[in-house]
Amino acid sequence: MFIVCSLVVILSYLKNCHASYCEMEDTLFSVGNYTCPDNYTMVSRVKGYYCLRVIAGSENPIESETSCQLENSTLASFETTDEVNLALELSLIATNSASGYCWIGAVRQAACYGPATEFNAGCLPAAQNSFRWTDGFVTGIEAFSNFAPNRPDNYRSDQNCVGMVSSTISWGTAPGTLDDAPCNLTSGSCHVCGQPAQELN
Ligand SMILES: *[C@@H]1O[C@H](CO)[C@@H](O)[C@H](O)[C@H]1NC(C)=O
Ligand SMILES: *[C@@H]1O[C@H](CO)[C@@H](O)[C@H](O)[C@H]1NC(C)=O
Ligand SMILES: *[C@@H]1O[C@H](CO)[C@@H](O)[C@H](O)[C@H]1NC(C)=O
Ligand SMILES: *[C@@H]1O[C@H](CO)[C@@H](O)[C@H](O)[C@H]1NC(C)=O
Repeated sequence: MFIVCSLVVILSYLKNCHASYCEMEDTLFSVGNYTCPDNYTMVSRVKGYYCLRVIAGSENPIESETSCQLENSTLASFETTDEVNLALELSLIATNSASGYCWIGAVRQAACYGPATEFNAGCLPAAQNSFRWTDGFVTGIEAFSNFAPNRPDNYRSDQNCVGMVSSTISWGTAPGTLDDAPCNLTSGSCHVCGQPAQELN
């Protein structure tokens, strides 16, 4: 059993091996009794192991959530800046560096809708406090420090979803930064799905 499991772990690892992230520590599929589904990469969180996958496609954030749910995931949360960087690498591979947003599981808190001038104090600073992760499997708000400069800006007061910029987009926000965007915006190039790792019996 041990040999079979180890082989599965190694094969899974090699299957997802890519020159730029093969050497990174957190790309295993399985650790101890925990494992991720095919094509998911495992990261370690305060609450336990979590599995991430980037899927290419031009859906909007709402459609992306449905797409993730078809594989028992949700749009992914991020716990750390390292996880954002990992998702960026995975997104460049999945989309062949196509330009666009990669939708993630963060939404503006209802108390923070509308123009920034009307925000209550609890919404400021906006990058840290205006959003929440829709997936409860995350601790803290470190990854919100990845918002691009001058973001979130809630342009037209309609930007209640969040995309990670995958490759470049025309208005200049850098790859790997977060930007607030309308929830019905279809100019995505991918979405990040996530789920807690499964415990093997
Ligand atoms: C895996 O689960 C088995 C059975 O529950 C347990 O005996 C074993 O200690 C666990 N292994 C690890 C590494 O947690
Ligand atoms: C994993 O990715 C491979 C290569 O893209 C694909 O052929 C396979 O169907 C995927 N597996 C699942 C479960 O999505
Ligand atoms: C999702 O979960 C259900 C219920 O556990 C299971 O039957 C189904 O096979 C899962 N789908 C995928 C794609 O893993
Ligand atoms: C998105 O929603 C806004 C506000 O409801 C609407 O004005 C806009 O036309 C919609 N855009 C798309 C692409 O559906």
